[in-house]
Amino acid sequence: MSERNKHKRDFFSSKFGVIAAAAGSAIGLGNIWKFPYITGVYGGAAFLFVYLLFILAIGLPVMLSEFIIGRSSRRNAFGAFKVLAPGTSWKYIGVLGVSAAFLILSFYCVVAGWSLQYVILSFENGFSNKSPEEIGAMFTSFTEAPIRPVITQLIFMLLTAAIVIIGIKKGIEKYSKILMPVLVVILIILCIKSVSLEGAKAGLVFLFNPDFSKLTGDGILVALGHAFFTLSIGMGALITYGSYIRENNNMANIAVNVTVADTVIAILAGIAIFPAVFAFGIEPGEGPGLIFITLPNVFHQMQGGYIFSVLFFILLSIAALTSSISILEVVVAYFMEEFEIGRKLSTVIAAILISVLGVLCSLSMGVLSPFTLFGLNIFDLIDWISTNMLLPIGGLLIALFIGWFFRRNRVQEEVSKGGKLTGIYLTVFMFLVKFVVPVAIAIIMMNKVGLLKF
Ligand code: PHE
Repeated sequence: MSERNKHKRDFFSSKFGVIAAAAGSAIGLGNIWKFPYITGVYGGAAFLFVYLLFILAIGLPVMLSEFIIGRSSRRNAFGAFKVLAPGTSWKYIGVLGVSAAFLILSFYCVVAGWSLQYVILSFENGFSNKSPEEIGAMFTSFTEAPIRPVITQLIFMLLTAAIVIIGIKKGIEKYSKILMPVLVVILIILCIKSVSLEGAKAGLVFLFNPDFSKLTGDGILVALGHAFFTLSIGMGALITYGSYIRENNNMANIAVNVTVADTVIAILAGIAIFPAVFAFGIEPGEGPGLIFITLPNVFHQMQGGYIFSVLFFILLSIAALTSSISILEVVVAYFMEEFEIGRKLSTVIAAILISVLGVLCSLSMGVLSPFTLFGLNIFDLIDWISTNMLLPIGGLLIALFIGWFFRRNRVQEEVSKGGKLTGIYLTVFMFLVKFVVPVAIAIIMMNKVGLLKF
């Protein structure tokens, strides 16, 4: 089967295509929905500073590790380890990754569905003439309803599956190439608008002037965990994308570009949101509802708010879509190569199974909210297990695999095709994956165990 598979495999057609697709995966709800709200909760600039440190010291090396594993094996997140380390248990990293992808996509589609609903609400001018309380109540009553959020979630899954069925070059790469630059343009327009509001300066101070006394131990660990989520690392999404990278593309360079792009977008999202939040006297630590509850208030008080509201939620949905396709691709590539099922059938099966779980996630906001485990509803539980357990464990094992199993010579050989990573850079990279990354992740895991006791 391996030979046939080799010939059938798709490739990204250019380096820009790889960067657009991988950046599209990284940039998503994590940057635009989650990053601003956790930055708000954990104190602003000090949190941002620590987060940037983790992106550089942990995120970047794990991302390059995933690319190395993907390209040198030309397999999915599970098959890669069977090719590179035959007869060993390393392949269970892939099982962990496919499970994480399955779980993450189930709740990711729910939040993306909220975003779709807010595109519709924006078009209908649904926020006008509403008090802040009414806008808050709108969000709660929408997310707790049994039918509507399920429908928007399923529509979002349909869009995701349609792009994944079209395949790598015609689907993921083509859409990412168009959608990502559009996203950047819309975000920059929003930033300009937000920064020019009266009273915007306090938002910029909050975001860029660190007050380390606000930083808690918890905040440090949240920053570390978020570095994984936002870069799409720890579950093999970038192993799968790495398997479509051509030999003559410089992977270290691609990893740097993607990491920088993801970080810039998160900071742009911060610049688009915080000045506006402060200008209108809204609480930065609002929580997960920051964009869904607060921004419509901001938009409808702004001149030109109608158009900015429409643009913002389209932008959020686009960003979510280029991420969700990479999550679904992990499961689809696994089904295709391990069970020899066609792309279309694999996608349909994966989308249906994940949607079943997704419907439960959505309903756990309302009718199923009494069903809890460890005090968490289904949505929070699935988020908790995948983001806080599976991604960090996956990242830890990927770093150990590259650092202690693959080792320096094979790393050097793989990254030297179409690029160079020699001398001090290679030494720093090997030191990070061998020691720094595993130790840091072990700390996150210990924190989570502590939280469980709580
Ligand atoms: N990085 C994506 C985001 O920020 C989410 C994601 C996580 C995608 C894990 C792939 C893998 O929204």
